[in-house]
Amino acid sequence: MCGIVGYVGTKPVLPVILEGLRRLEYRGYDSAGIAVGGAGNGLELRRAPGKLRNLEEVIRQSPIHGTFGIGHTRWATHGRPTEENAHPHRDCTGRIVVVHNGIVENYLELKRELAAEGHKFVTETDTEVIAHLIEQELKSAADSGKTMLLEDAVRRAVRRLTGAFAIGVISADEPDKIVAARNGPPAVIGLGDGEYFVASDVPGILHHTRNLYFLADGDMAILTKSGVVLTDFDGNHIERPVQRIQWDPIQAEKGGYKHFMLKEIFEQPRAIRDTTLGRISLDTGKVFLDEMKISDAEFRAATKINIAACGTSWHAATAGKFMIERLARVPVEVDYASEFRYRDPIIDPASLGVLITQSGETADTLAAQREMISKGSKTVAICNVVGAMIAREAHGTIYTHAGPEIGVASTKAFTAQLTALFLFAMHLAQVRGTVTEEESRTLIEQLSLIPGKLRDALRTSDKECEALARLYSNARDFLFLGRGIHYPIALEGALKLKEISYIHAEGYPAGEMKHGPNALIDETLPCVVLATRDSTNRDSRLRYEKTLSNIQEVTARSGKVIAVATEGDDQIGQLIDHVLYVPDATELLSPVLEVVPLQLLAYHIAVRRGCDVDQPRNLAKSVTVE
Ligand code: F6R
Repeated sequence: MCGIVGYVGTKPVLPVILEGLRRLEYRGYDSAGIAVGGAGNGLELRRAPGKLRNLEEVIRQSPIHGTFGIGHTRWATHGRPTEENAHPHRDCTGRIVVVHNGIVENYLELKRELAAEGHKFVTETDTEVIAHLIEQELKSAADSGKTMLLEDAVRRAVRRLTGAFAIGVISADEPDKIVAARNGPPAVIGLGDGEYFVASDVPGILHHTRNLYFLADGDMAILTKSGVVLTDFDGNHIERPVQRIQWDPIQAEKGGYKHFMLKEIFEQPRAIRDTTLGRISLDTGKVFLDEMKISDAEFRAATKINIAACGTSWHAATAGKFMIERLARVPVEVDYASEFRYRDPIIDPASLGVLITQSGETADTLAAQREMISKGSKTVAICNVVGAMIAREAHGTIYTHAGPEIGVASTKAFTAQLTALFLFAMHLAQVRGTVTEEESRTLIEQLSLIPGKLRDALRTSDKECEALARLYSNARDFLFLGRGIHYPIALEGALKLKEISYIHAEGYPAGEMKHGPNALIDETLPCVVLATRDSTNRDSRLRYEKTLSNIQEVTARSGKVIAVATEGDDQIGQLIDHVLYVPDATELLSPVLEVVPLQLLAYHIAVRRGCDVDQPRNLAKSVTVE
């Protein structure tokens, strides 16, 4: 949801900012822009609609230079993705320039007020008012004979804003200075040697420094060549710990794969292993979740669990409900985070909240968490980004150690979330005494085998999915069917396909087909059916039998079926043409395996259709506005 990069130092500023923006382009790619200063020409701006390469072309034709600057890659909220609406935005004098991630909710009111003071606005954006507000503060000070520093003007301006913002501001009158402020969307400050950086996310500056401050809400940072000063919005000095990032910058690179998405699909064995590392004992079957500030007594006393999440994370939540209810025998409610607050949910201190989020900054999920906390509930975050807002506000966090996920379509973060949910369900079950030691040992052993099985699934599925993509990439619609814990995986398969290939796809509980959707079936409609089975589990066998009947209902109507089934299942191959086999697993863990062919199918179809796999249209990686 927009990426910001800023630099002050001795290097030529342009390559630093453009490279940073390239690494943050997953956050938004409707337009991009840059402003630089320090070359004696005041501030120079270049902007272009569309992707970053358009901006690079503009700069190639009309070069700019400087020693400090800010850049932006935009996901449009207010105003169309045109050049005028691209950031950075200026005040009336053109001497103050702002980049912004978020939404200023009271911008119309502020715009009216500033227009009455004579300010002229040239864009449809909410961001432009920030530049004018800062200008107005500086002007009012000058009119009363005072000199005001940029940071003081920014401080006064941000106090008037309602909504969410992370901003970077520079002024032609105060060279080699960037003022950054955060209220909602993330902002990190990079600490180099005589050079300092600001960015919306770590990959934007990781090539230059691993030492970072993560700004909290209400923090401001003043970056100059001699260092960084942190204050709150009242100007009081504050301290933040310097965090050293352990990732290798290479982890945020494509590493020989054609797309980030494909690389991330193939990273899943490692992501799952890292998510379980140090949290399980194979000898005792115990799960250790040390990051909890929730006592065992509180876990025992919980009468209900509320999970809130969005998109793919919501699908993980829905699968997690099966895990928690089956193992820990606690009722679980799953909500779309965007709906949660608006249904006046029944929550009390005995309810436990769980928020699932890759980015840890999704505005709806954060709002759901705050709603839970305000009603007395403790919250656990399942989150992939260390230090993210939702993790900071939670009473406990289970980090999914999937590593940076750059592809907009979530893949490895999803399977890592399923793994974290399984650990959480096991932990809860052990604390509440709803699993025996022997069951625990068996389940944990099963979990430890998943990375190896994932490797097998990846090996066998990739080529087969590529071949299927050749057959089905022209389909207009797709159906994805599953029962029980496989139903959320069907939803996830449909979401993956629609978001990256733009083919309409729906996920459905297989048993619901005869209540309406059967009417859609004909020879043009591919149905992907999740038909894995856990032969050690009676319910799973029953579900499998019913799913076979559903498959027959589709084939009887000339529908095309692609099934995902368990290796060694000879029965299903006799019914249909296409079967994608995955290794067997205990039912609660089979989603981690069976989603792999769905991810690969979506990927190969999107590639064949010539779609922009890593940056699908109209989307952004993290949605920091409601
Ligand atoms: C789909 C996808 C989105 C996210 C959703 C929530 O592939 O990535 O649906 O899952 O926007 O994002 P997080 O998990 O960051 O809260």
